[in-house]
Amino acid sequence: MIIDSYNRVHDYLRISLTDNCNLRCFYCMPEEDYDFTPASRLMQADEIATLAGIFTANGVRKIRLTGGEPLVRKDAAKIILSLSRLPVELTMTTNGVRLHEFADVLEEAGVRSLNISLDTLQAEKFMLITRRDLFHQVKSNIDLLIRKGIHVKINVVAMKGLNDTEINDFVAWTKHTPVHVRFIEFMPFSGNRWTSNKVMSLQEILQNISTAYDYLPLKGGAHDTAKGFIVPGHVGTFSVISTMTSPFCDTCNRMRLTADGKLKNCLFSNGETDLLTALRNGEDVLPLINQSIFSKAKALGGQFSGKLEEVEAAAIKNRSMITIGG
Ligand code: GTP
Ligand code: 5AD
Ligand code: SF4
Repeated sequence: MIIDSYNRVHDYLRISLTDNCNLRCFYCMPEEDYDFTPASRLMQADEIATLAGIFTANGVRKIRLTGGEPLVRKDAAKIILSLSRLPVELTMTTNGVRLHEFADVLEEAGVRSLNISLDTLQAEKFMLITRRDLFHQVKSNIDLLIRKGIHVKINVVAMKGLNDTEINDFVAWTKHTPVHVRFIEFMPFSGNRWTSNKVMSLQEILQNISTAYDYLPLKGGAHDTAKGFIVPGHVGTFSVISTMTSPFCDTCNRMRLTADGKLKNCLFSNGETDLLTALRNGEDVLPLINQSIFSKAKALGGQFSGKLEEVEAAAIKNRSMITIGG
């Protein structure tokens, strides 16, 4: 088992396959020109399988593939199928653009649940956020996956002045569609134009929804990032991921492997452990994994408190979101 100094068992690994993406969301990528990591510095498919095997042999029970966008990687299908042979729940967070090309592979790999990013239900606003005209492609892929019986969670980064007026449209979507919509408090990363006044908080999101709907809380899982709710009579549900105003670090069970093979023990940690170089040098990586997790901070990478007004002053040092994978 991989355990930190606060006795948190780490059994969930997020593996980023690439920092490349077919969208250009401003809240995820740095504003200046961004150079994607060259292929030679990325973990190769066999290296991903080897590292994933070491993690699963040491208690990891869930692997989530992330990006950038995991499905732009040329050997994504090969990686998905190789990881599906491990004794883990395999899942993915994707922007949905290429899902129609992967529906059969995902089925063959036994993937039962997917998290798909969609911040707006308006085609024009989608273009504004992602700088690509692909709203209808993503929406039809979401419909396709739901028809195939996959459990779909929709990630909506809630930002004031951008999509805050659409919160109740998303809740309305859950009336007849079995999606789980998750509103995410906007988080600060290198180069993503974060300011505290753009964050729509858990409290503000719920207040907004209560102007149109009555809703009830749902019982969550022990390690959920989201606080869940249902409007009675709706077939879908909604929830809020409240990292900024109500963090959930006490129950954290997550580790992150970046596409260039660095282990991050927290989304906000600025220290990293280079597992890929160690693997390529023939070193034993397990002690490195254990040391990294044991040094994990109690909350938020030790970088800021749960008070919004203090975050700007904290001068957070971190990668940009596109190189972490969420
Ligand atoms: P499941 O709980 O496995 O469904 O996934 P998830 O919510 O962890 O993953 P997803 O990739 O869909 O991420 C949704 C949002 O939650 C993103 O904004 C992530 O950055 C955020 N998130 C995921 N894991 C963590 C975490 O460990 N800590 C914090 N603070 N946020 C996280
Ligand atoms: N704040 C909150 N969530 C973010 N994501 C990307 N950038 C941010 C941010 N700055 C979310 C995306 C994606 C998930 C992996 O992370 O919605 O679904
Ligand atoms: Fe790409 Fe997702 Fe980042 Fe948008 S949020 S740029 S879709 S990786």
